[in-house]
Amino acid sequence: MDSIREKIYKGISDPSRGLDYLLSRFNAECCKFLCAVRRNRFQCGRNLRVRNKFDISGPGRVVLGDNILVEGGPFKINSLYTFGENAEIHIGSNTYLNGIRVSCSEGVRIGKWCIFADTRIMDTDQHSVLPNRWSTDVPVESKPVIIEDNVWVGLATVIIKGVQIGRNSVIAAGAVVTRDVPPNCVVGGNPARILKTFSNEEIEAAEAFFRKREKK
Ligand SMILES: CC(C)(COP(=O)(O)OP(=O)(O)OC[C@H]1O[C@@H](n2cnc3c(N)ncnc32)[C@H](O)[C@@H]1OP(=O)(O)O)[C@@H](O)C(=O)NCCC(=O)NCCS
Repeated sequence: MDSIREKIYKGISDPSRGLDYLLSRFNAECCKFLCAVRRNRFQCGRNLRVRNKFDISGPGRVVLGDNILVEGGPFKINSLYTFGENAEIHIGSNTYLNGIRVSCSEGVRIGKWCIFADTRIMDTDQHSVLPNRWSTDVPVESKPVIIEDNVWVGLATVIIKGVQIGRNSVIAAGAVVTRDVPPNCVVGGNPARILKTFSNEEIEAAEAFFRKREKK
């Protein structure tokens, strides 16, 4: 992460970028203020930047790491919704959110350095599949979702309850992920299947990058 001096230097040498950074930091502070007023259980690390609407709601806990950038746009909302007090959403440092919508009743845990295009993640079915679903006695299935570090989730994707996605993997555009995804591969389709697996050299290049970043 840049020092304050480096940030000031970058801001002066490229004013539109500097302004964009300041606006995104201001939006982040507004978002934190709103959460505090609404008494959301929201916690975030350093340098949160919010460029568009970022909706945090529900009675559960939301914990964000450092250096998270929330992008989005008119048709790309970022929204983290918890259904109950015990629900927890965790998002690791340096993750980029560009249209993620999470509905969480138990736990959704996202690692560091992930990239999200417009995607839906649900750790609950929200309704029972049984025909008697309007009855309040019928249980609704839910199971935590885990997304490990450096996962890239492409656009128009759905990740459903109980899925674990392994480190470095990619979810191709349009995929519906219903089963665990191993690390270091690309999956796509509905239901998602492995399209390719990364070579040892490709994996090592990524790991070397992270080792270097950790040292900084
Ligand atoms: C993930 C992605 C980049 C993979 O690209 P790639 O590694 O170059 O894949 P390839 O073009 O080599 O295709 C490999 C195989 O997977 C298939 N495939 C590629 N993308 C697919 C998809 N989205 N769904 C299903 N199958 C797909 C190809 O048909 C090909 O199959 P074949 O070998 O039988 O012909 C691409 O699928 C994708 O999703 N692009 C959009 C990314 C995105 O959402 N960006 C938004 C900004 S974050």
